[in-house]
Amino acid sequence: MTATPRGARPHKVQLGRSWAGAVAGRALSARGVRNGSVAGGRNAVLSVQSVAGGVKADAAKAEGVTAQNGVKYGVRLVGTGSAVPKHVLTNSDLEKLVETNDEWITTRTGITQRHVMGPDESITQLGADAANKALEMAGVDASEIDLIILCTSTPDDLFGSACTIQAAIGAKNAAAFDLTAACSGFVMGLVNATHMMRGGNFRNVLVIGADALSRYVDWRDRSTCILFGDGCGAMVLSAVEGNCNMLGFDIRSDGVKNENLVASFFTNGLEEGATTNKATSESAASTMGSYQNICMTGSEIFKFAVRAVPQIVGSALKSAGLEVEHIDHLVLHQANQRIIDSASDRLGVPKERVVSNIAKYGNTSAASIPLALDEAVRSGAVKEGDVVAMAGFGAGLTWGSAICTWGKAASSE
Ligand code: COA
Repeated sequence: MTATPRGARPHKVQLGRSWAGAVAGRALSARGVRNGSVAGGRNAVLSVQSVAGGVKADAAKAEGVTAQNGVKYGVRLVGTGSAVPKHVLTNSDLEKLVETNDEWITTRTGITQRHVMGPDESITQLGADAANKALEMAGVDASEIDLIILCTSTPDDLFGSACTIQAAIGAKNAAAFDLTAACSGFVMGLVNATHMMRGGNFRNVLVIGADALSRYVDWRDRSTCILFGDGCGAMVLSAVEGNCNMLGFDIRSDGVKNENLVASFFTNGLEEGATTNKATSESAASTMGSYQNICMTGSEIFKFAVRAVPQIVGSALKSAGLEVEHIDHLVLHQANQRIIDSASDRLGVPKERVVSNIAKYGNTSAASIPLALDEAVRSGAVKEGDVVAMAGFGAGLTWGSAICTWGKAASSE
């Protein structure tokens, strides 16, 4: 088996039977996979990479290489959809709220407008709209969905909104839960879905990224209110026997730097002298509280992002056995155009392969990657068999990247 030379972009057909199998073999041996299991397993990253190893094992199987890890199913990315609130808030609208101007916002962030949820809109409604569009593209009926993962920090209800989306789309056979990992949520959701599907118990899964950070923005704070918008993106994944189109990934977090981006819960309902907010008698104080506005040290997040994104895309590529040159589309979390430009420059991905729609939507948190990907797929820019590298970063701090092949066909077909 020969490896594709660095810098040589594989032809789409090669990606499967000859080339993917070759890199799969390399990836497996490079990570010390013996008898189908990954050596190590120290931490979450290693366990993620063990699935990546399994992913490549299927590619290897297609090449006649015996994979012994027992994982039978591969994941295909088969449909996307998105939805945004009706109301558009432009930079000039913001000039009426805070001391700012269109030129400053455009130059520093690349954002010209964002969509903001009205009182008659909800995460559930946006999620259902986006999910229905993704199901239609996938050709999958809602009743065939057996898992919904809603990635959000801003559900309509404290207990989550995955189940209300399930009800809204009529996915009566699905289990549904929320996952919170801020702007990295969608990538974390994809990684979770891939693990669960490769076990064989979940055949069609909806991963939805949806957020309404406008609910937590301080509209008097010009350093944050200019950045965020609301929206939703959804993806349908289907498990099939054979190659896996989720090629590799890596996820990380660093809670030590948490204070740089928070919207903390604040309790204000304890009666004088009370030491607990747990009800111990009928006369116990009732706890009142709420989440506070978003508080951010912008410069620290900026520095974190421009370092973390190239690092995580690099390690996800490594777990996939790929090189930067193989990326057809780089879909980064849409936080700031300067971050997208800097991170893609550092990675060495040419501008024409970098997806950006931040100008129209601002930072939609967990929604930004699937929203950008959906537009790129529907415009025809992303084609069957293209290699897509996604990376999210944000509060937590969290960051993660997933490398996949787009479409229903196995990478070897
Ligand atoms: N309009 C006009 N002026 C503004 C402004 C606004 N909306 N916001 C800040 N300023 C001013 C500042 O007060 C400062 O003025 P000074 O020089 O007189 O002190 C000046 O502009 C520069 O501010 P600074 O914070 O250094 O700007 P910046 O170039 O770092 O851009 C961010 C600020 C927030 C756009 C940038 O730091 C950023 O995007 N960080 C990452 C945030 C992010 O992505 N968060 C989400 C992650 S998921």
